[in-house]
Amino acid sequence: MREFILKASKSLDKLDKVQIGRLVSDLLKDHELLEMVLSSVDRGIMVTDENFKVTLANRHIRRFLPLKAGSPLEKNLWETLEDPHIGEFIHEVLINQDNLREKHFPLDLQGRSIILSISILPLAKDGRVRGNLLYVEDITQKKAEEARMRRVESIVSLTTLTAGIAHEIKNPLGSMGIYLQLMQKVLNQHCGGCKEELLGYLEVLNEEVERLNSIVVDYLFAVKPLDTNPEPCKINQIIEELVEFVHVELDQQGISVVMKLDDNIPQLSLDEKLMKQVLLNLIKNASAAMEQGGRLVISTGMHEGHAMVSLKDNGKGIPDELKSKIFEPYFTTRDTGTGLGLTLVYKIIKEHGGEIEVKSKENRGSTFTLILPLPQKQRKLITQREESIDL
Ligand SMILES: Nc1ncnc2c1ncn2[C@@H]1O[C@H](COP(=O)(O)OP(=O)(O)O)[C@@H](O)[C@H]1O
Ligand SMILES: [Mg+2]
Repeated sequence: MREFILKASKSLDKLDKVQIGRLVSDLLKDHELLEMVLSSVDRGIMVTDENFKVTLANRHIRRFLPLKAGSPLEKNLWETLEDPHIGEFIHEVLINQDNLREKHFPLDLQGRSIILSISILPLAKDGRVRGNLLYVEDITQKKAEEARMRRVESIVSLTTLTAGIAHEIKNPLGSMGIYLQLMQKVLNQHCGGCKEELLGYLEVLNEEVERLNSIVVDYLFAVKPLDTNPEPCKINQIIEELVEFVHVELDQQGISVVMKLDDNIPQLSLDEKLMKQVLLNLIKNASAAMEQGGRLVISTGMHEGHAMVSLKDNGKGIPDELKSKIFEPYFTTRDTGTGLGLTLVYKIIKEHGGEIEVKSKENRGSTFTLILPLPQKQRKLITQREESIDL
């Protein structure tokens, strides 16, 4: 068809009405096909001519990219966009020929945090650039999956760390041995004024034992497989007991705790001790993020057949570039942090067949949401209830 149009366009003056009619109808079909292809691609696409004026935009573009009101057609590409950073990037690429032609932008789209990949490709014909193609893709899921894979990999690599830990344990153990021998020697000599000396050695021993203990507890907790003993539990009760336990300390730090617990949550199959550890780690992180005081809202509820527990703080938040790292072992931004708190949280929740979602805005706060599965029986009951509602 393209060949016919090309041929016909060269001898327009020789065409009769019927032939022109056929040409127009073929052109229309061609155009429809192009529109169909563009709208079935699940990406945002805009095309410009060589003067950077938009000549074509598919219907998905607005879904991905906030555009200014009115049609984008005939405007400079960078002037059609709401977001000044994306506009600036496009301007740099097109006008200043910046080599970096793809960039990722975190955006807030109708209350949803997304990451967009924006690329600009030159459209060349006969060795000349005839226009540009703007290609917009929502890579939020892809990024989350990459981060998840990285987490899994780092957890696997943790096992290799056991060798390092054994080494760490060996040194204090060695010095403990030496001091023990010294103690024996002193005792053997039965020296009268040996009390002070003995106490000094014992103190060193104690310090070494404590060091050993913290290394083993912190590090091995993250490395060893968890021994979970799930039993029917009331999550609201677990939360209430834990808040009772920590609220004095939080009060002193100027943090008020608000609980919004949903009474309709069925019993969940949880390891109570581990679940308390999860909540405690999240509360500790929240309180560390609200050094000047703040508000911690702990809520529970049901969503799409799952139980949800969320902890919302109004602390310093997590910068976008660090969000994918916080679950990695040893990742910490705190001087006294071990970077193992969230690794353990992740591990425990995974053991329970659950998921964790994190939403955070720098200087505004963070929300950690635990999504926990219902026990089989409860799930069936809920489905049955839903089915009977459908009838
Ligand atoms: N509620 C929160 N608000 C802000 N940042 C947080 C929050 N929770 C976790 N983080 C970030 O994640 C990092 C890792 O947390 P975690 O694994 O518990 O280790 P640690 O608490 O020892 O630093 C923290 O250092 C902090 O930067
Ligand atoms: Mg922590």
